[in-house]
Amino acid sequence: MKKISEILKISLQEVDKAPDLNSLDAVRVRYVGKKGKFTTSLKLLGDLPVEKRPVVGEEINKAKSVFMKTVSLRKTELEANALEENLKKNSIDVTLDGYASSRGGRHPISLTRLRIEEIFQNAGFEVKSGPEIEDDYHNFSALNIPDNHPARAMHDTFYLDNGKLLRTHTSPVQIRSLLAQGAPIRIIAPGRVYRCDSDQTHTPMFHQVEGLVIDKNVSFANLKAVLHEFVACFFNKDVELRFRPSYFPFTEPSAEVDIHWGEGKWLEILGCGMVHPNVLINAGVDPELYSGYAFGMGIERLAMLRYQVDDLRVFFENDLSFLRQFN
Ligand code: PHE
Repeated sequence: MKKISEILKISLQEVDKAPDLNSLDAVRVRYVGKKGKFTTSLKLLGDLPVEKRPVVGEEINKAKSVFMKTVSLRKTELEANALEENLKKNSIDVTLDGYASSRGGRHPISLTRLRIEEIFQNAGFEVKSGPEIEDDYHNFSALNIPDNHPARAMHDTFYLDNGKLLRTHTSPVQIRSLLAQGAPIRIIAPGRVYRCDSDQTHTPMFHQVEGLVIDKNVSFANLKAVLHEFVACFFNKDVELRFRPSYFPFTEPSAEVDIHWGEGKWLEILGCGMVHPNVLINAGVDPELYSGYAFGMGIERLAMLRYQVDDLRVFFENDLSFLRQFN
């Protein structure tokens, strides 16, 4: 009997000292497992005289049940501790700031195109578009550029296997729009164009904006006025323009326009002229009744001047540290 209360005392101390659930279970096995101390004591009952067995047996069972109750209490306690600790470790401070998400922005070429569109829309122009995959007729022949004309070679055309080509300029939209809606017309047509050409100042794909005005009594003076006003709006300041005589098969007379950009510095921004009568005829317009002007300008060039970018290629490298500046 003495030995049983001794075992119980020590067992309860061990239960109290068990630091976690695993060691508590090890204590439980040590006392009430198959080879546990209480289990083996019950087996030894047979060695006692018959009359003592019930008393001692009852004592062992009482001790065992006290032990089990204590184990169970300790278990509840340890589980609560574990839960508490887990909550502390994995808790989320809902009052902390979240991560700020970064906003995307438009590409500088798109920003420039939109700005150009807005200025011309305010001057009564409609925005039109045409296909980037063109045929020889709309890109060249209808624009008064016959077969074997040296201007074709100058355009460094990408030809496709099916005999079509990537448009080398936005001028074919002149033909398509006139055929679709006739004269009078007052449109611009921004879009991608392609030339087999690549160096510091040329990329195989770039952007142009075509302009076309056909009506009765349209003059070169109207063209000059519109372009002058456009450039002033675009740069937010009065900029001097210089019209240099030039040649395009689809305009006559033709000019290239430079803007005055610093001391004695002139930069070409566009080509233009009065639409050639052959172009009007090809587009189903009577040149005796109607006349008009057309122009084509490079969007990249205008974007470079507006944003003070001096290398054309940064527009196409998609370097985020460059692009983020325009967000
Ligand atoms: N299409 C010409 C070019 O790409 C530009 C232009 C357009 C010139 C319209 C005159 C009139 O160079």
